[in-house]
Amino acid sequence: MKTVRISLIGFGAVGQGVASTVLSKRDFLKKQGIDLRFVGITDSKGSEVDENGIDLEAAISRKKDTGSVATGDMTALEIIRNVKHEIMVDVTPTNIDDGEPGLGNMLSAFGAGRHVVTSNKGPLALRFSELNEAAEDNGLFFRYEATVAGAVPIFNLVHEALAGNTVTGIEGILNGTCNYILTRMTEERMPYKLALKEAQELGFAETDPTYDVGGIDAALKLVIIANSIFGTGATYHDVDVTGITKITPEALELASNNNSVIKLVCEAVNGTLKVAPRLVPKRHPLAVGGTLNVASIQTDLAGRITISGKGAGSIETASSILSDIIYIARHV
Ligand SMILES: NC(=O)c1ccc[n+]([C@@H]2O[C@H](COP(=O)([O-])OP(=O)(O)OC[C@H]3O[C@@H](n4cnc5c(N)ncnc54)[C@H](OP(=O)(O)O)[C@@H]3O)[C@@H](O)[C@H]2O)c1
Repeated sequence: MKTVRISLIGFGAVGQGVASTVLSKRDFLKKQGIDLRFVGITDSKGSEVDENGIDLEAAISRKKDTGSVATGDMTALEIIRNVKHEIMVDVTPTNIDDGEPGLGNMLSAFGAGRHVVTSNKGPLALRFSELNEAAEDNGLFFRYEATVAGAVPIFNLVHEALAGNTVTGIEGILNGTCNYILTRMTEERMPYKLALKEAQELGFAETDPTYDVGGIDAALKLVIIANSIFGTGATYHDVDVTGITKITPEALELASNNNSVIKLVCEAVNGTLKVAPRLVPKRHPLAVGGTLNVASIQTDLAGRITISGKGAGSIETASSILSDIIYIARHV
């Protein structure tokens, strides 16, 4: 049995999703010879540390009952640097101004000899090359499947299953909130504001929806794709971004009369990065509805490969994080 010790930095929707997924998969993992042991968990109020392995069920209950996982006040950076473990999982909030606290957590983890797994887009959209180099210089894994399209395994697909192919372009729908709003506007002929209000009431859109509807969230994901797959060294500022706020029901109806839908499409083709509303034929693989995400990858050998699935959700995102953890566990 291989024991892999983990610190979990952030214990919100995704962090708790990771903990409950590992709990429910414990026997399944043990059959594969992997014993995952969480030695530190933090939220914004404090932390729990146990070098012998935290009781995850108790940690989840305490978070639900008291609003915090904390039983002590060791900081995330102290845990990352001083508590012995193999993998640091950063699931702190995305911040696109300076990437913190995730950026500092990741660089400290590499400095301390920990592999990194994350769902946090901010640090990757701002400082991808630096993070990748820090991982390589220290001979460590840097895995970030959950940063783009939640459960949809774009990076595993390209780097593992399609290894040997040259990817010549990628198109995708990478923001579930925009896709939901556009789908409802098309199906119900709803004005934009009403569809946004519905998305907010259903919890698909934030109270401040600017990141989503302005195309910023999709652009961050496109930057991560460009860096990871094309090695372009791009940042958010290299993306030409237009959001969906100016789309009218009339435009959607006109599109529909021409057997098309309007989607917020992300494109990385011929060195250019673009996020903009685009006409997509109704039968095209990119024409997925609701909150779904989709990525369509053009390759030289395999041709075009398209995958779609859930782009958010605590368990769906935990699926990608667990897959990255298992990848590392198998390779160390
Ligand atoms: N939710 C999704 O479906 C989804 C999908 C893909 C990617 N993501 C990304 O995954 C990350 C986590 O998302 P989430 O939905 O779990 O967010 P969340 O519910 O807001 O959780 C964030 C967690 O980080 C903690 N935190 C904040 N500042 C911290 C600090 N300085 N040190 C330690 N912990 C800190 C928060 O503490 P408190 O609990 O005390 O507030 C909370 O536990 C984000 O970067 C998000 O963009 C989310």
